Amino acid sequence: MAVAVLELANISKHFGAIQAVSDVSLSLHAGEVVGLMGDNGAGKSTLVKMIAGNFRPSHGKMLLEGTELVLHRPVEARQHGIEIVYQDLALCDNLTAAANVFLGRELRRGVGPLRILDYKAMYRRAGEIFKELKSETRARDLVKQMSGGQRQAVAIARTMLSEAKIVLMDEPTAAISVRQVAEVLNLIRELRERGIAVVLISHRMPDVFDVATRVVVMRRGRKVADKPIAATSPEEVTGLITGAIEQV
Ligand SMILES: Nc1ncnc2c1ncn2[C@@H]1O[C@H](COP(=O)(O)OP(=O)(O)OP(=O)(O)O)[C@@H](O)[C@H]1O
Ligand SMILES: [Mg+2]
Repeated sequence: MAVAVLELANISKHFGAIQAVSDVSLSLHAGEVVGLMGDNGAGKSTLVKMIAGNFRPSHGKMLLEGTELVLHRPVEARQHGIEIVYQDLALCDNLTAAANVFLGRELRRGVGPLRILDYKAMYRRAGEIFKELKSETRARDLVKQMSGGQRQAVAIARTMLSEAKIVLMDEPTAAISVRQVAEVLNLIRELRERGIAVVLISHRMPDVFDVATRVVVMRRGRKVADKPIAATSPEEVTGLITGAIEQV
């Protein structure tokens, strides 16, 4: 098998006396969608925040394409092609879709002190990305007028801009309508087809069984299962989440 895009080796994280993540090893390959499941407080968000550079692991190592990865800040993760879509999305409501896609990495034209923002190029590029994502979101629309699903498309478009290798998503479908969920799942499929490795944190079993290629279950900070989606079932995963099934 090709070298993993990302390899976590015995990663742990504690906050004072709280052991949020204990000794988790995990590998992630291009074009995989790993459904990361577990009860509230199981350590899912903490795990992806270490990959995104928000938290430093207390123990263990991370390898990006075989090379040790040490992150001090989220911007460093981004520079390595690791993007995270947070549950609250952190979009600017009063800006357009395009402005949100380019936030912090705006395109400019001209030279020296005369460099100005190149809105035309940003609208064009954002429009291309929405088209690639088969999303109906329009580059010039204001985010405050958008549905939850369209906001997800904007957040995902941000990750496409940087040609991410890894996209981490923390509950992208938790607070949106059924129709919007279908749209977001399509976006995830689009990322997968482009060879991006996706980690999808979700409490929604149908979503995970719809788009994930693998499922990882965490319980009380530990990884208790890591299986191809075809080798497990919603019943087994539920048992693993609740602890009715110890470990597989
Ligand atoms: N910044 C922090 N400081 C202290 N404790 C934290 C911090 N972040 C998370 N924790 C603790 O770490 C544990 C794991 O939390 P985490 O947010 O990773 O869980 P989760 O699996 O994402 O849960 P949920 O499904 O509710 O989002 C919890 O006990 C939580 O209270
Ligand atoms: Mg969480």
